[in-house]
Amino acid sequence: MRKAKENRIIDSDAVIIEKKEILPGIHRITFEVPLPFINEVEPGMFIQVEVSHDSFPVTRRPFTISSISGNSIEIIFEIVGRGTEILSETEEGRSLRLLGPLGRGYRLNPGKWLLIGGGLGAAGFPGLAASIDCDLALLGAASRDKLLIIPGCETITITEDGSSGRKGLITDLLETVRWDSFSSVALCGPVPMMKAVIGMMPLPVRVITQVSSEARMGCGWGACEGCSVPKAGGGFLKCCSDGPVFPADSIDWERWEGIH
Ligand SMILES: Cc1cc2nc3c(=O)[nH]c(=O)nc-3n(C[C@H](O)[C@H](O)[C@H](O)COP(=O)(O)OP(=O)(O)OC[C@H]3O[C@@H](n4cnc5c(N)ncnc54)[C@H](O)[C@@H]3O)c2cc1C
Ligand code: FES
Repeated sequence: MRKAKENRIIDSDAVIIEKKEILPGIHRITFEVPLPFINEVEPGMFIQVEVSHDSFPVTRRPFTISSISGNSIEIIFEIVGRGTEILSETEEGRSLRLLGPLGRGYRLNPGKWLLIGGGLGAAGFPGLAASIDCDLALLGAASRDKLLIIPGCETITITEDGSSGRKGLITDLLETVRWDSFSSVALCGPVPMMKAVIGMMPLPVRVITQVSSEARMGCGWGACEGCSVPKAGGGFLKCCSDGPVFPADSIDWERWEGIH
């Protein structure tokens, strides 16, 4: 396990400079952020967004930093509850309070990368792909309405209803993967999907796989212990400060699947 990174966390107002519904129910928001914030961002890190100044929701909501450009960052999110609904209705030009950049991102190892994403799990891949040698992305979703685009990376898609690419599950795409052509693998998606993917990997590939995790969060910076991820060998990791990106073999997948 890597030592916790001493990055500078900034709590500041950020103006929404663009908001767009990129797919049905899926929104992209671009925030203008201070330069010191940009200097601290690594692919895989996240922000805590205060979605409302009213009484609800009480806690900020975590979102992966999808990409960076100049002095702006983007998030891509799906409406799943009241917080994301409020966020989707927030207008361009308004400021929201952001805490970040938070957590520990991907280790940007040299060599060719394979990205494997399920649904909105791919939200952090655009920024990652811009920072590495992205050779191939395998993306799965329920339908084409839920498939994100990863600029600059050859992408193969699979959907459960067959509306884009092959019909099936992401694991169906793995049968023909030439694992030995990649130096690193990034994996993100629902826990059962990630566990199934890892179960199909040859052992040496598990060792070069980094997983971007999600957990219900309180503080977002290591204080409340509300974001536990079961650790291989016993105990727990904190998604927010030990992760959210972890080596795949540092997680106890049986226990983690059990709590989802
Ligand atoms: C590190 C991190 C990065 C994330 N990045 C993204 C992202 O890039 N795009 C995106 O769309 N979402 C992302 N999420 C999930 C996002 O934070 C939740 O969807 C959001 O907090 C839901 O808020 P809500 O008030 O709309 O829903 P709530 O009313 O709080 O919950 C609605 C439903 O969503 C589920 N849910 C809520 N939060 C989470 C969570 N953290 N993990 C799993 N299920 C959850 C609840 O169990 C419930 O079923 C991320 C979560 C974490 C921890
Ligand atoms: S969310 Fe508080 S410790 Fe992780």
